[in-house]
Amino acid sequence: MAQPETAPPQTAPAPVPAPVTPAPGVRIDGLTVVYKTTAGELPAVRDVSLTLEPGSITGIVGESGSGKSTLALSLLNAVQPPGRIAAGSVEIDGLGDVVGLAGERLRKARGAHIGYVFQAAQNSLNPLKTVGKQLLDLGRSHGVDDLRGLVREAKELLGRMGLDGARVLDSHQHELSGGMRQRVGIMLALVLNAHLVVLDEPTTALDMITQANILKIVREVHAERGLTTLVITHDIGVVAEVADRLAVMYGGRLVEQGPTREVLHAPRHPYTRGLIQAIPRLVGDIDEARALPGRPPTLATVPKQGCVFRERCALRMDICETDDPAALADGPRIVACHAVGVKERA
Ligand SMILES: Nc1ncnc2c1ncn2[C@@H]1O[C@H](COP(=O)(O)OP(=O)(O)OP(=O)(O)O)[C@@H](O)[C@H]1O
Ligand code: SF4
Ligand SMILES: [Mg+2]
Repeated sequence: MAQPETAPPQTAPAPVPAPVTPAPGVRIDGLTVVYKTTAGELPAVRDVSLTLEPGSITGIVGESGSGKSTLALSLLNAVQPPGRIAAGSVEIDGLGDVVGLAGERLRKARGAHIGYVFQAAQNSLNPLKTVGKQLLDLGRSHGVDDLRGLVREAKELLGRMGLDGARVLDSHQHELSGGMRQRVGIMLALVLNAHLVVLDEPTTALDMITQANILKIVREVHAERGLTTLVITHDIGVVAEVADRLAVMYGGRLVEQGPTREVLHAPRHPYTRGLIQAIPRLVGDIDEARALPGRPPTLATVPKQGCVFRERCALRMDICETDDPAALADGPRIVACHAVGVKERA
């Protein structure tokens, strides 16, 4: 917003309070999340370190089962049994280490400080209540005094996403399409004015045109409100549209991260290269697009030592069988691969 050119006179009313912690930074360090299985506790996210710079949009990509949603849930300390955070920390400016938060402080942080769209948000509404009723419940549970203002804000957000706000607020879940419910999920994540927003697969139920429209709105709202945003998707094309920084997950590990453009134009990790080559609109030619051979591992089949990607890697060497490659930094690029020459430990 433009600054006034002269100071307000002494008699002017007191200014509205400064917004609470705009654009918080997030530092995930050494995070390991395990799920209890019949074969014991197995890691879905292993020793992941990732920084979300204040005001940035970070995208996390990876195939199904790579640990994206588990990592996202950890940001709200919302991993449910049989899962648990086994190691590491998630420091959020203004909140501290959320791994140590519990009870009322944790509940308040969700929604007011961290806005979240769950994966399959289209199925997470309460079928018995209208969207408007759920919106009011959300506002009351976070101590919002101006509920009319909240409804106005919700209608505005829904309108921007191409929906009739009043109609949607009067509707039950079953009266809305999957794509409409997904947009309701995005509205609920933004409406409390949280400054850290986590969107897990925000556009999966949408056609290409609606998807592009929603991504544009995510970018606009992000810029207008000064947010820190994390977008999780299996579709690297979505990340190419919105994210400043890109992080690639495979088998619970972060294998590559860096500025989105640099990673997309010159991917260094063999997995990132494979992901990009599989997408015609990124390769630019449908005939040149090649599917990544093989399948991603499950919790039970992720290699316990060596590189998690080696079963599908054309560059695999002897050391890849025994040594898990460390994440090494080269300027803003971080890659974990024995075949990539890098300069310093991340
Ligand atoms: N409640 C659970 N109990 C046991 N294993 C789980 C549970 N939730 C997730 N997992 C396993 O943890 C791993 C990571 O799952 P996660 O949902 O985080 O992956 P994802 O990258 O979000 O996948 P997708 O793209 O399908 O959403 C997978 O192997 C999954 O089967
Ligand atoms: S560490 Fe080895 S197996 Fe893993 S991606 Fe690099 S070359 Fe391939
Ligand atoms: Mg997921």
